[in-house]
Amino acid sequence: MQRHEVLVIGAGLAGQRAALAAAQAGRNVGLVSKLHPLRSHSGAAQGGINAAVGAEDSVETHIYDTVKGSDYLGDQDAIEFFCTEAGSTVVEMEHFGTIFSRAPDGSLARRPFGGAGFPRTIYAADRTGLALLQAIYEHLGTEEIQTYEEWDLVELVFRDGRAQGVVVYNRRTGEFEGIGARAVVLATGPAGRVYSRTTNSHSSTGDGIALAYRAGAQLKDMEFVQFHPTALLESGILITEGARGEGGILKNASGERFMVRYAPHVQDLASRDVVSRAIVTEINEGRGFPGGYVHLELMHLGKEKIESRLQEICDFARNFAGVDPVTEPIPVLPAQHYMMGGIGTTMRGETNLAGLYAAGEAACVSIHGANRLGGNSLLETLVFGKQAGIAAAAYSATVTDGTVLPEEIEHAAAPVRAMMARTEGAEPLPLRAEMQAVMERRAGIYRNDADLRAGIQELFALRAKRATLRIVDRSTVFNLNVTDALETRNLLDLAEVILAGALARTESRGAHARTDFPTRDDAHWMKHTIAGYNPLGPQLSYAPVAYTRWDPKERVY
Ligand code: FUM
Repeated sequence: MQRHEVLVIGAGLAGQRAALAAAQAGRNVGLVSKLHPLRSHSGAAQGGINAAVGAEDSVETHIYDTVKGSDYLGDQDAIEFFCTEAGSTVVEMEHFGTIFSRAPDGSLARRPFGGAGFPRTIYAADRTGLALLQAIYEHLGTEEIQTYEEWDLVELVFRDGRAQGVVVYNRRTGEFEGIGARAVVLATGPAGRVYSRTTNSHSSTGDGIALAYRAGAQLKDMEFVQFHPTALLESGILITEGARGEGGILKNASGERFMVRYAPHVQDLASRDVVSRAIVTEINEGRGFPGGYVHLELMHLGKEKIESRLQEICDFARNFAGVDPVTEPIPVLPAQHYMMGGIGTTMRGETNLAGLYAAGEAACVSIHGANRLGGNSLLETLVFGKQAGIAAAAYSATVTDGTVLPEEIEHAAAPVRAMMARTEGAEPLPLRAEMQAVMERRAGIYRNDADLRAGIQELFALRAKRATLRIVDRSTVFNLNVTDALETRNLLDLAEVILAGALARTESRGAHARTDFPTRDDAHWMKHTIAGYNPLGPQLSYAPVAYTRWDPKERVY
């Protein structure tokens, strides 16, 4: 059996940064990923990474913008730490070789982003995530880290009150194997594929979040789901907020710049929850284009600016919507984009389970509270990935080697083998599509009691089908239907948690907009939702929000 002192699961930016930190602390590190690291979802991040660098901006303003953007649900001590680390984090990534775009004087170029009081989003055209991912991947080569590429995570193993490692499925051999570890860091990214219309990659199925949940980890604030205002009409591909940062404007079917009515001060650059709701309201009240969408106009920016700063979205609009942003508006509609919730952690990535750490979008520290600001996600992966790697390395020095017993491998493998043996029952992808339809219908941008209750019933009905899940493909090598089944199982659990938290939270805050409870209710709901696993359904409890200096105020843009 393979053994490592620190085992990181997920090789996007958070996972690679954690692995790097643990290796630099002198630990023997393993890195497991169901994808090649450069295909991780971090590479899909387009618009940029926030850091208050330069004399005119301040860390203080970044902190304030993030607290306000979170609708006062973010933990202020964590936000202060996060924003304070931003400058050195970006400079480190520059030193690792990230090809950031430059201002005419050679300094790091910055663009305005939604909800930010200053243009502090540093970027590499509209491929910032990919630029960062390439740089850190190259740097990872300076350490000896064993990678397990294209292995599926099947189960987390806990014994004697602590993490002992994981059970994984080796796609190349079709075997279930154990990897022992003294400490495990989950950096498996988001669960956006709970929804059908999402900017998330197909691999964003919340595997680490669901497995941690089933193992007893506390999930935090899962009801807060971010919808990005501008996703391409049919495909849901992200059209970066950087497009509006560069001066792009949203218009309804009458040619009206409608954001003036919703956010008079900053208009198209209000925070994402505000802009997404505005678009949906325009459509619902009959001011959208037939079929339900609005236009994002860039034409006035000119060909040179569009094609140099927004190269990737030019390709997307041309190839996937058949429009040329230089001469035509882009048809857009909000799509699921980010989960503010995740595995509850401290600032050091510690979970409530000994030896288990989490970072990146799989985790909830919480710095984003009820709504994340664009540009804070890439920063989060690096700041808290590093912290989790450091903490896991330190913990690993205090315990003996982790081991995964043969019976633990068999226990994890048995349900999957049963799915392989079944000749009748539900297929993973159609079942996933049923769940996604429930989530789109019942837990979108606007929510209400009746829809959420109906959604919970509909998901409960899918449990019977889940019990019959079957893997149709019989091959023993690169059987991606096994991956489909594992992912679907994970998504189903997380969908239940989102709906339960959303039903219980009888207020509107950030991205959680209840039409039946349209205002924020600080007296009752200034608290984090905690979800614990129970076979009958999520068990909810609540935890306080950390305050330092910023009293809640009405949030206007
Ligand atoms: O719009 C964007 O480029 C997305 C950025 C982010 O989610 O941080």
